[in-house]
Amino acid sequence: MDQASLAARLNTRWLGRAFEWRASCGSTNDLAAERARAGAPTGLVIVADAQTAGRGRLGRRWHSPADENLYLSIVLRPTRPPSEIPPITLLAGAAVARALTTFGLQPRLKWPNDVELVDETGRRRKVAGVLTEMASAGGSALHVVVGIGINANAVEFPPEIAERATSLRRALGRAIDRVALLAALLDAFEPLSEEFDRRGPAAAVEAFEAHAAFPAPCRVTALGRPGEQIEGLALGVEPDGALRLQDETGQIHRVISGELS
Ligand code: BTN
Repeated sequence: MDQASLAARLNTRWLGRAFEWRASCGSTNDLAAERARAGAPTGLVIVADAQTAGRGRLGRRWHSPADENLYLSIVLRPTRPPSEIPPITLLAGAAVARALTTFGLQPRLKWPNDVELVDETGRRRKVAGVLTEMASAGGSALHVVVGIGINANAVEFPPEIAERATSLRRALGRAIDRVALLAALLDAFEPLSEEFDRRGPAAAVEAFEAHAAFPAPCRVTALGRPGEQIEGLALGVEPDGALRLQDETGQIHRVISGELS
């Protein structure tokens, strides 16, 4: 993948116009953060064909073999304050969902960072994930790195995720051109990012909810409170990005950070 082949397909003004491709790196998120600290512009996109230390949320590993999938990180310099940055994860999920829709798929977003496809047996399987990381100082977000992994052409997965994962290739029955996929993603993300700068988290929540599907009933493990689980019905996402959940007594909980199952 090179800058010229991407540029030939891109319709963006600023996103992906600065671009770096690596055959392999530890994590594109780490490389992007390094570039951001060195002054990289907003909209820089880093893609690696393989990652040796691909990271997922909650300290998990992201399966990142060569020649198959899309691993990228976007450097953003949003104008919003640090407290409003976490919903960028929802925004990025919505961008992935919009891009996959252009391939004829019907993706479903699972709060906060999973993109899923429903397989032929009706089972929801993860096809992509988002990992947003921020550096802030003195009440301002210095930069944000939005890491996105999309299982594009994987046909096999390690046993620990084989039951829950899928790829675009599996869903569509054909191989996917990763440059076309990246261009579709960046085309979808740029207007969302501009809207986020104008309107903040509400823009992210609206875009997310257009593709959201909540398992019902669901169990949420609230982060930072080990062992604390709340079971109930997900009612939706609040304007600030928190998940709204109603337990069996009718009480409403706001979950700021957690995991749904
Ligand atoms: C998740 O679902 O837990 C988030 C997965 C994010 C994976 C991507 S791949 C590109 C970027 N670099 C990383 O190390 N992680 C993200």
